[in-house]
Amino acid sequence: MEQNKMIIKLKKVFTPNATSDLLVFNSLKILKKKGSDILDLGCGTGFVGLTIAKNLKYKNNYYFSDISKKAILLCRKNAKKNKIKIEAKVGALYKPWKNKKFDLIVESVSAIAKKVADISPWYTNNIPCACGEDGTILVSRVLKESKKYLKKNGKLIFPIVSLSNKKKILKIAKKYFKTVRLIQSKDWPLPKSMYSKSYLLEKLKKVGLISYKKKFGLILYTSDIYIAY
Ligand SMILES: C[S@@+](CC[C@H](N)C(=O)[O-])C[C@H]1O[C@@H](n2cnc3c(N)ncnc32)[C@H](O)[C@@H]1O
Repeated sequence: MEQNKMIIKLKKVFTPNATSDLLVFNSLKILKKKGSDILDLGCGTGFVGLTIAKNLKYKNNYYFSDISKKAILLCRKNAKKNKIKIEAKVGALYKPWKNKKFDLIVESVSAIAKKVADISPWYTNNIPCACGEDGTILVSRVLKESKKYLKKNGKLIFPIVSLSNKKKILKIAKKYFKTVRLIQSKDWPLPKSMYSKSYLLEKLKKVGLISYKKKFGLILYTSDIYIAY
């Protein structure tokens, strides 16, 4: 996968992680039609959409949005740096896209249990993450509304990270889409800085708010990538 020259580390903007890479990889496998309208929802730095653009030889129309103004400013800057024409808007969930429909929506709006977000290295410096005790609040709304923003044969790609209530998110996805298919699943070691809070993780796991495995003394969480249409 070719990478753009991008600024990906900036205070108060989410730094792309392993799940971001999986979203790019799977979107590239699915995209087939030139001139597609592609939305990166919860775009942060713009890493997902801009890397897709970099790796497709044909022209598409790229749209980005995030609730964070700082993220959108950075996303525009990253696009300019790589000479990729985009439309990027600040706003909550689908609010910026009234009456617009897309061929592909790649969504990765924050979806992680609040107490896990608080101790993680991913959501430091007030990165927007109002996704509730089990991480499902925002993604549930996205899943509920997505159909309205997809063209007739449009598709939604979204991750479910096991540091949220996976079962609940999947149940909601199945309620709003006829087809919900797992396209990739990968385990990652939890950042070492979180091990000192393993008692808290254990507690959250016990009550079903999150899930993870233990192997070779490591805590492994999972990123599942789904396609829905
Ligand atoms: C897990 S990060 C993903 C960022 C980026 N897609 C990536 O992979 O690097 C979640 C993003 O969702 C954004 N976000 C949080 N709440 C939001 C909301 N209500 N509406 C839109 N974006 C939101 C955050 O600002 C953050 O950039």
